[in-house]
Amino acid sequence: MKQVATFNRARLIFMVVICLTYREVQGQYGQVAGAWNITYQDGGNEQQLTISNDIQYVDLVIHNVDLTSGADFYFEVHASDPKLASIEKRIERSELTGTPASWQGPVPVQTRHFGFTSIYVTLNTSDGANAERSPDDLTLIIARRDRLDEKIFAYTASALLLLMFLNLGGVLDLERLKAIMLRPIAVTIGFCTSYILMPVLAIAIGYCFLAKHQELHLALFFTALSPSGGLANICAIFLKGNVNLSIATTTINSLMSLAIFPLWILILVRTIFTNTELDVPFLDLAGSALALVCAIALGMLARIFLPKTTAYIFRFLKPFCACVSLGLIAMTVGINAFAFKELTGMIYLAALFLPICGYFLSYGIAKLLRCSAADALTISVETSVLNMTVPIMLLQHCFDEVRADMTLIVPITAALNSLAMMIVIYTVRRIFGWNKNLDGDAFASKVELISFDEHIKEEIIVSHISYQNEKTAL
Ligand SMILES: *[C@@H]1O[C@H](CO)[C@@H](O)[C@H](O)[C@H]1NC(C)=O
Ligand SMILES: *[C@@H]1O[C@H](CO)[C@@H](O)[C@H](O)[C@H]1NC(C)=O
Repeated sequence: MKQVATFNRARLIFMVVICLTYREVQGQYGQVAGAWNITYQDGGNEQQLTISNDIQYVDLVIHNVDLTSGADFYFEVHASDPKLASIEKRIERSELTGTPASWQGPVPVQTRHFGFTSIYVTLNTSDGANAERSPDDLTLIIARRDRLDEKIFAYTASALLLLMFLNLGGVLDLERLKAIMLRPIAVTIGFCTSYILMPVLAIAIGYCFLAKHQELHLALFFTALSPSGGLANICAIFLKGNVNLSIATTTINSLMSLAIFPLWILILVRTIFTNTELDVPFLDLAGSALALVCAIALGMLARIFLPKTTAYIFRFLKPFCACVSLGLIAMTVGINAFAFKELTGMIYLAALFLPICGYFLSYGIAKLLRCSAADALTISVETSVLNMTVPIMLLQHCFDEVRADMTLIVPITAALNSLAMMIVIYTVRRIFGWNKNLDGDAFASKVELISFDEHIKEEIIVSHISYQNEKTAL
């Protein structure tokens, strides 16, 4: 019995010793200098710096330090993510003043990369036996510099987009448009695939690949939700789809986006993105949609009232338009090239599956609902060609600039992937000789974009004939 008791006591002492040593090494907050804490000098816990080669300073306060224990210690300031910023600052015990003691002063920060990180302070005893970490971290936001070129870019992009839609209005055939509107089945399918199928796909794909990053998930969702814009029309022309259906779908979807955006975002903020604060720029969106409609209407009016001049001007405008939309993409990618540093395998896969699944599913759905091959192709092109300008604008409005910078890569990669997919589809169709005009009527008013090699002659002849027909009809 006695032996057992001794053994138990020994074990108890052993455990207490272990506990004590453990405590010593680990360090427990509040042991050495009381309940000290940190804030920025302005009292907040968030500060923004920009990326720079120069050292920048944040004003830090360490307050409520209890010096009565007499232990010798110093404070060290750290940045949690050394990839974003590094801090080297040591504050000696002797620099503290007052009771309870406090210190305030500038802390040098070397910024490296944009993003969010935090500052924390450790208290180390001079003998190295004890270390405490501040109970709270302070947020450090690091933003990029230089935003002037982006403003210029935004205006140039808008002007070019409007010019493009003006041109598209000019090729819109009113007779065909009427036929489309009288039997709106294809337009309705295009609407549903764009605003039901794609967002649902984005949510599902986001769950598979970006589940841990709500902001990226939301960026993917915005990408899926954005109306396709002029590039889809151009792809439809190249793939010999139904151009009028394509333009009608683009116009209707752009207008409907005003109703659909708030609806979807309301649903999502209530269900999935519950802790994301969103500030959706509805007024800007309304303005863009209105400008788009005006541009298309202007193009249509020009076509009706000045058919000859319009036909002449538009002949030169069409290749210009194709160049413009490619130029816009190049500009967007160039200006946002910094975003590619944020690209990860998961983002790439998500941005790859979105257009691919979108294309094949919407083609299947349109086929199932008995659309003609040309219409099904057009609908799937309209659905899966992704725009990067609109989601970038949305992200920049909904998020602060740093979060927007961190998520821009999603729409950019997705849009580039969708374009690459179109090029692959076009190449395959050319190689197998499938790229035929399946819908003769759709090309009654011949749209010759950049005419390629052997097609040049043929297209000019055809357009000449249709122009002659138009003239006789008038
Ligand atoms: C430390 O200070 C912050 C404000 O900067 C405050 O929110 C937090 O509650 C404080 N923590 C403790 C443990 O006192
Ligand atoms: C002070 O303590 C922190 C936290 O334990 C530690 O990371 C840091 O290296 C220590 N500083 C020194 C100079 O030992």
